[in-house]
Amino acid sequence: MVHEWDPRTASSAEISSLLDCLNEVFRTDLPGDPLWRPNHLREYLTETMSGVRRICWLAKETTDGGPAEVTGHVNVLLLGDIGVLEILVRPDARRSGLGRELLALAVRRAYHEGFSSVGVEVIGGTCAVEFYESLGFARQFREIRSVLRLASVDWTSIEKMAQDAAAGYEIEFHPGGPPADLVEAYARTKAEQNESEDGALDLRPSSYDPQRLQESLGCLHRRGMKPYIVLARHPASGEVAGLTEVVAPAQHPTRADQYDTIVAQAHQGQGIDRAIKARMLLELRTAEPELAEVQTWNAEGDEGLIHINSEIGYQSDRDWWDYGADIPTLMQRLGVRN
Ligand SMILES: CC(C)(COP(=O)(O)OP(=O)(O)OC[C@H]1O[C@@H](n2cnc3c(N)ncnc32)[C@H](O)[C@@H]1OP(=O)(O)O)[C@@H](O)C(=O)NCCC(=O)NCCS
Repeated sequence: MVHEWDPRTASSAEISSLLDCLNEVFRTDLPGDPLWRPNHLREYLTETMSGVRRICWLAKETTDGGPAEVTGHVNVLLLGDIGVLEILVRPDARRSGLGRELLALAVRRAYHEGFSSVGVEVIGGTCAVEFYESLGFARQFREIRSVLRLASVDWTSIEKMAQDAAAGYEIEFHPGGPPADLVEAYARTKAEQNESEDGALDLRPSSYDPQRLQESLGCLHRRGMKPYIVLARHPASGEVAGLTEVVAPAQHPTRADQYDTIVAQAHQGQGIDRAIKARMLLELRTAEPELAEVQTWNAEGDEGLIHINSEIGYQSDRDWWDYGADIPTLMQRLGVRN
């Protein structure tokens, strides 16, 4: 039984059964990853940036007269001009057409909402690769995930690295987000990076102007994801010369996500990238006592950051692909009627 589902009004039993399904998927597909906890799962599914909507469906099954259990889930995030998909099918319910059925529902809805393409993050080495490729999705962008185990970090060298930025910069730690007086300068530094990026599908809400930045921080907090920022202030120019962002999610507090690390062009070559990343790790040790690992994603060719990450001790683990498909073609392939 598959039905459209609103996590805002869902019962706790449904949320809990979805969590069980998600963790079964993790056990099978990403056995080294931490399992998710129930903390803020409902908010994780319901909170979005303004102008963005997430529509969800749930597949449930009853065995031996027991309570219905979640066997699959799909959600589509209607974001800008693309529908971003997430599909999960419990391992014991796979290869019976459920993934296809869930995809068809989400794609049909995206079509009716006026969207012409869908995108999805696909994790290398999982059966999602065969699934999406069999349905005509095309690979558009590759990133490599790396994981840092804090227990293996050489803290003496990290302490040294944190002191290594050139003179003239002040390295600051800001749990929660940048301070009010730096929000504009911070957003400018992020915007500069955005202009120079190409290739990646825009699968996440962006935050390159001050108002969007504030809103995206608010959204992260509501979803139970605590942002931490280290930035390099350049008092001489008033600029934010560099920044690095880590998010510690309530859903898996032992593993944090390292997001952007950016050094503005005018400030490159001053040791800022190493210093801010090192300072972040030192701060996280006390700010997040449960934290055991940090994961990050780098695009191919991002040699500078890949080099620093490996110096710190990150180890690459999997490919992470953006796939995309054109909705009318996909509907035809899935046999979905308008
Ligand atoms: C990808 C996924 C949604 C597919 O669900 P499913 O219900 O098994 O998919 P379907 O039964 O509808 O399969 C449709 C087609 O996809 C292809 N396919 C799916 N799984 C495949 C596999 N393991 N190997 C080869 N082809 C596969 C086949 O062509 C299949 O058609 P067929 O069974 O008639 O040959 C499911 O495997 C899943 O949830 N994976 C999660 C992967 C993931 O992202 N994990 C990490 C995040 S936590």
